[in-house]
Amino acid sequence: MRRNRPKIVSIANQKGGVGKTTTAINLGAALAARGSKVLLIDLDPQGNASTGLGISRDQRGLTTYDLLLSDADIQSTARSTGFDGLSIVPATTDLSSADAQMMSGPRRLSHLKMALSQSASDFDTILIDCPPSLNLLTLNGLVAADTLLVPLQSEFFALEGLSQLLLTVKEVRASANPKLRLEGIVLTMYDARNNLSRQVEADVRDTLGDLVYQTRIPRNVRLSEAPSYSMPIFSFDPLSKGAVAYRMLAGEFLRRNPAEPEPAHV
Ligand SMILES: Nc1ncnc2c1ncn2[C@@H]1O[C@H](COP(=O)(O)OP(=O)(O)OP(=O)(O)O)[C@@H](O)[C@H]1O
Ligand SMILES: [Mg+2]
Repeated sequence: MRRNRPKIVSIANQKGGVGKTTTAINLGAALAARGSKVLLIDLDPQGNASTGLGISRDQRGLTTYDLLLSDADIQSTARSTGFDGLSIVPATTDLSSADAQMMSGPRRLSHLKMALSQSASDFDTILIDCPPSLNLLTLNGLVAADTLLVPLQSEFFALEGLSQLLLTVKEVRASANPKLRLEGIVLTMYDARNNLSRQVEADVRDTLGDLVYQTRIPRNVRLSEAPSYSMPIFSFDPLSKGAVAYRMLAGEFLRRNPAEPEPAHV
């Protein structure tokens, strides 16, 4: 997926524990395995994506905090992971103070956008792993992004949370990022034997139609184990149901985002 500028996708849902980080790591790794150069930006002070990809706390050096609040650029903050084609800008807990520090400035919504617009052309795709809140960090993620990808856990209150998130998208469009689009909704921790999972799926497909990926990510214990071995699922258990599902999701993502022709050389 060669592009003149990277496609920037924020992965967000203000509800905690719905599979944002698992999706960021494994969709990122699956796209990298298909030849994309992928940068994951850890925009969550919990730093789960960083830990899950084996960047230990004492190795983090420059982080997302520096990207947002100092002049550090992508080149100096991104580092490679053990997985070919997948790089990460890691986060540490100091990112939690960024919210308050950004609050005061006139550019409070566009710190990340500015940082990414400077020098990000080494990558085809940038995935932003947002925290479980609609705070300034997440808003920076939405303002910097071309699209929003929403992992939706197949459970009772999922749709309520989704309406609130979509309202925020409207507000962001009306203010700082008119071009923000929905990339898609992916059902996570899906259990086809569970009536509630099926009901949530029917409701969300009714409401959002083709925006909902055909691929559903099943509940799969191997997906929850992989981060403690610092690996994407494809290194940890490439034949697991979770690996198969994230590979399929990457296929759908690429079909929705066909490669652009190389710029003509004159
Ligand atoms: N499909 C799945 N099957 C089984 N476990 C999963 C699956 N997806 C995620 N998990 C596990 O569920 C927990 C929450 O997932 P994850 O950290 O990806 O969610 P999150 O939305 O990023 O959470 P937070 O809101 O705290 O950032 C983790 O322990 C993760 O390993
Ligand atoms: Mg997370």
